[in-house]
Amino acid sequence: MRDKVLAYGTTNGSTARIAESVAEVLRARGLAAEALPARSVPDLAPYEAVLVGGGLYAGRWHKDARRFVRRHRGALAQRPVWFFSSGPLDATAAERDIQPVPGVKRAMASLGVREHVTFGGCLAEGAEGRMARMIVRNGKGGDFRDFTAIETWAAAVAEELCGASSK
Ligand SMILES: Cc1cc2nc3c(=O)[nH]c(=O)nc-3n(C[C@H](O)[C@H](O)[C@H](O)COP(=O)(O)O)c2cc1C
Repeated sequence: MRDKVLAYGTTNGSTARIAESVAEVLRARGLAAEALPARSVPDLAPYEAVLVGGGLYAGRWHKDARRFVRRHRGALAQRPVWFFSSGPLDATAAERDIQPVPGVKRAMASLGVREHVTFGGCLAEGAEGRMARMIVRNGKGGDFRDFTAIETWAAAVAEELCGASSK
C-alpha cells in the first residue's frame, strides 16, 4: 500500500489538470501517484495517502469532491490527507492565502487534514452551464491557474510524504 491518489471533482476540467500536475510532481520524486475523478475511486484500501481537490461552485466544493469525502470518511481519517480548491477567477489566489470554504473547513477539522490550499481557477469558452457561459461572455473568465505555485505546493507535499507517511 504505497500508492497515493489525487481524487478531484471537476465540471470543466481545470481542477483535473491541476491534480494531474501534482501527480506528475509526486511521480518525478519517485512516488507512485495517480490522479483520478473522485467519483471513480470506489475504495481507498490501495492508497496510503490521499489528496482531494475540488473546483469551487457557489461557495462549495464540487459535489464529486464533497461526496468523496463523505463516502470515504473512515478511510480518510486513517491516512495522511491534503486538500486543495481551485476557483478564484482573478489574481487573489496568487496574492494571498484564501481560506477553505466553510464545508471544506469543517471536513478538514473532523478528518485532521494536513493542509489546504486554494489555487486560481479557470473558465474558458465552451464551459458547461448557463452561468459559466454568461461569466465568460461578460469577460470575467480566464485562466488564473499558476502552475509554478501548484508545482511548488506539490513538491512540499512530496517532501512530507517521503519523510513520514503515517497519520
Ligand atoms: C456557476 C459558477 C460558480 C462559481 N462559483 C465560484 C465560487 O463560489 N468561488 C470561486 O472561487 N470560484 C467560483 N467559480 C469559478 C470556478 O471555481 C472555476 O472556474 C474553477 O476553475 C472550476 O473548476 P473546474 O474547471 O474543475 O470545474 C464559479 C464558476 C461558475 C461557472
